[in-house]
Amino acid sequence: MTAYTEVIPLAQPVIGPEEEQAVLEVLRSGHLSLGPRVPAFESAFAARIGARHASAVSSGTAALHLALRAVGVGEGDEVITSPFSFVASANAILYERARPVFADIDPRTLNLDPDAAAAAITGRTTALLPVHIFGYPADLPAFERHGLPIVEDACEALGAVHADGTNVGGRGHPATFGFYANKQITTGEGGMVCMGSAEHKVRIDAERNQGRAPDMGWLDHDRLGFNYRLSDVACALGSAQLDRLDALLADRARVAGCYGAALADAAAERGLGLPCPDAGGDVRGWFVYVVQLPGDADRDATILALRERGVQSKPYLPAIHLMSFYRERFGHRPGEFPVCETVAARSVALPFFPPMTQSQVARVAEALTDVLSHVTDAR
Ligand SMILES: Cc1ncc(COP(=O)(O)O)c(C=O)c1O
Repeated sequence: MTAYTEVIPLAQPVIGPEEEQAVLEVLRSGHLSLGPRVPAFESAFAARIGARHASAVSSGTAALHLALRAVGVGEGDEVITSPFSFVASANAILYERARPVFADIDPRTLNLDPDAAAAAITGRTTALLPVHIFGYPADLPAFERHGLPIVEDACEALGAVHADGTNVGGRGHPATFGFYANKQITTGEGGMVCMGSAEHKVRIDAERNQGRAPDMGWLDHDRLGFNYRLSDVACALGSAQLDRLDALLADRARVAGCYGAALADAAAERGLGLPCPDAGGDVRGWFVYVVQLPGDADRDATILALRERGVQSKPYLPAIHLMSFYRERFGHRPGEFPVCETVAARSVALPFFPPMTQSQVARVAEALTDVLSHVTDAR
């Protein structure tokens, strides 16, 4: 085993003097919340996506919750969604006492399979919630054909573009973004809903702020709301991050390209699965670099062996329907969504962040190839 001097982390935000200056200005202004930085961030974000409206909120999860309420999801409704996602996309449906109805995923894109989703539609289906997983655009035109309300989970997909040239999040459906520290841009914690409907914008703005409509006085509330606000400090940070989005996306795409080249042999010789390349005009907004281990590789042992070689990695993502809470509440069992379950059992996220160098990628690729050679040579 080669000695290493540096542990390569999974993710690393890019924060520079511009972000420091932007945050400092807000701190000095004394206007830390409900101030001018919120609409400024929203307008810049909406313009970048090509959405009519945007509402900044405290997290991607809060964005999903308010978006589902805006399209009318309520108690007893069914919402069709992907079991291969971060748990928040299904949890948000439960917040409204509706039922997440899972359908299997497409083995290439790992997104909700439109045919499987269509087969799951019933008279109680109120909305579809496709997830643009790992930044790869979900097949929105196929979902739009049903004429049902759609909420898009675009929390991982800032910068992704559909084949028809629309940005992911810019088609008019409420679409949610997340700004946790590993995302394409970060505000530490934070989120955004993009949407085409002015009514949705009014409702979401009221509900993120305890149910207070814009024309009402402080402590005057006409409906149930939440505290899902995003502070001016966070919005200033978000605007500064948005200014460098193109460079961040280009760097992520560069790192992904380096991985593709460095792992090509492991893919050809060892059966390592790599993220699908862009096809049919869809463009991924790179978020994570997730590989599928060969069927005979022990994932836990692989992750441990990578750690011993100074490389962080993690299983990503587990199947939601097989999490204990979902099993117990809904009686889900292994075998229901075989594509998702196979992918979830094999997937590993490798270190991936914009300033990652070619030699860091090479080190990860060498370590992984070495670890896999031990597993697969034993065949
Ligand atoms: C697909 C997906 N949906 C929702 C979320 C929730 O976002 P947040 O962590 O900002 O609440 C995330 C964040 O990791 C995500 O990856």
